[in-house]
Amino acid sequence: MNNPRVAVFRKAHFNAAHRLNNPTWSDEQNAHVFGKCNYPNYHGHNYELIVQVTGEVNPDTGYVVDLKWLNDLTERYVLEKFDHKNLNLDTEEFKNLNPSAENIAIVIYNILRGHLESTLDLKIRLYETERNFVEYPA
Ligand code: NI
Repeated sequence: MNNPRVAVFRKAHFNAAHRLNNPTWSDEQNAHVFGKCNYPNYHGHNYELIVQVTGEVNPDTGYVVDLKWLNDLTERYVLEKFDHKNLNLDTEEFKNLNPSAENIAIVIYNILRGHLESTLDLKIRLYETERNFVEYPA
């Protein structure tokens, strides 16, 4: 018999700069599609990250995962990499990938997925602004 499955959440925060640009397009097309996010000298966002892990409650601990452990994992592998960075210039992940909220969420998911047991489900919610946020997997 399976134990109950519960979703647990850990919030994190990082600041980063980015610029949305498609190098195969003209300047005009980039400006038209990306607007202010295409300004050549970059701009910053205060990203709010919510890491969601879903799994069975361990009968010994009462936990799905230890949230302290999840927080340490997020700090070590995500925040250390992206906090106070220029995503386009300072990170390997976005050298050739447009650092949209969608792509940032996918990258963070792929980083953390490798550190979680396969029995656990992972979902990333990323707020670029208070009103704009994405979730992956959808
Ligand atoms: Ni932006």
